Amino acid sequence: MTRSYDSLILHVMSGTGNSLRAARWLADLFGPGGATIVRIAKSYDAPPAPDRNSMTGFVFPTHGFTAPWAVIRHAMRIPRGTGSDAFVVATRAGTWLGFLLPGLSASAMFVTAFLLMLKGYRIKGLRGLDMPSNWTALHWGMSPKNAQRIIDRARIDIERLAALIFSGKTHFVSINNFVELVGGIALANISAGYLLIGRFALAKLFYANWKCTSCGLCARECPFGAIRMMGTDPKLPYWTFACESCMHCMGYCPEKAVEASHPLAIAMFYVGTFSLAAALGAWIIRLQPGLSGIGAGPGGAFVRSAVNYAYVLVSFFLVYVLFYYLVRIPLVNRLFTYLTLTHYYRRYREPGIGGKDFTEGG
Ligand SMILES: Cc1cc2nc3c(=O)[nH]c(=O)nc-3n(C[C@H](O)[C@H](O)[C@H](O)COP(=O)(O)O)c2cc1C
Ligand code: SF4
Ligand code: SF4
Repeated sequence: MTRSYDSLILHVMSGTGNSLRAARWLADLFGPGGATIVRIAKSYDAPPAPDRNSMTGFVFPTHGFTAPWAVIRHAMRIPRGTGSDAFVVATRAGTWLGFLLPGLSASAMFVTAFLLMLKGYRIKGLRGLDMPSNWTALHWGMSPKNAQRIIDRARIDIERLAALIFSGKTHFVSINNFVELVGGIALANISAGYLLIGRFALAKLFYANWKCTSCGLCARECPFGAIRMMGTDPKLPYWTFACESCMHCMGYCPEKAVEASHPLAIAMFYVGTFSLAAALGAWIIRLQPGLSGIGAGPGGAFVRSAVNYAYVLVSFFLVYVLFYYLVRIPLVNRLFTYLTLTHYYRRYREPGIGGKDFTEGG
């Protein structure tokens, strides 16, 4: 392959290894010595600044039909592109049903590409890449055989993409990108909801079942420092709002102890959907009927939304703290675990990527 660039800087987020696998393929295809992999994680060490002869790539999973918050934040932080070239690969949830059912990255690539353009990069390629779905909080993990089928096809897609963009050509126009664009526009409100609320709710569904040995591996390997080992005898992992739901802890816990609780999801739904602003408003009007006109108009709507938003986050936090202490009681832990579907699900991780690949970089 002819190479039009001297160096390749790959910015990579990965929970269960799919995006890291794709990034490593790209680095190999670029050729020896030319590629640097920068991890998108809690800690931010300023990556090398690109020059005119370097290519920058973003490779990350799709979450909620868009780019994870960590990727958006990272794209806003990196050095300016000053006219250098860039591309975006969003891995997405492929499923094998005797044929490949593609996932939908929707706005994931476009949001990231737009931010890169604002930072002075010239976008040369966009690609949604089907890898096995890793969302095992939601569904059963794929069988190793079917996962391998999808990974083998993804490798071919990456080779095609690399042949184009590393030789200086572009990759924009495809049926795949057209479907993603339409999906991105149609699902924009779901993606906004995911970034504003969904990801915080998902973070607070995780807990450790009774098999947890307090080894602390999940806390050490979480790319976003979102797990705290709390309590004494036993110390158990506690999930903070910094969690990006990347599924790393769930996929790599040696005891298969990380669960995402379904009963807790139902409780959070009921507590979270109670409208505090409406209840407060009705209560004030009952006390002072003369104030019934207050709060009408756009200003009032904004205040009501802000009150509700704060209420939802605080309610998630409080319900989770209560839950965390309840599941420290062995009998309660067993009860919740047997009622939680993830207890029966297979986990997923990319077959060639081990836990060490996340802590040792590259
Ligand atoms: C919380 C969450 C949300 C997801 N949302 C989507 C989605 O909207 N569309 C999609 O195609 N895949 C979605 N996926 C699947 C992942 O994007 C996909 O499996 C990806 O390859 C995982 O990459 P990683 O192992 O590098 O983290 C989601 C996965 C998770 C955990
Ligand atoms: S949940 Fe798993 S990885 Fe985390 S401390 Fe418990 S056993 Fe270790
Ligand atoms: S807590 Fe688990 S799911 Fe959340 S970001 Fe960390 S490793 Fe990923």
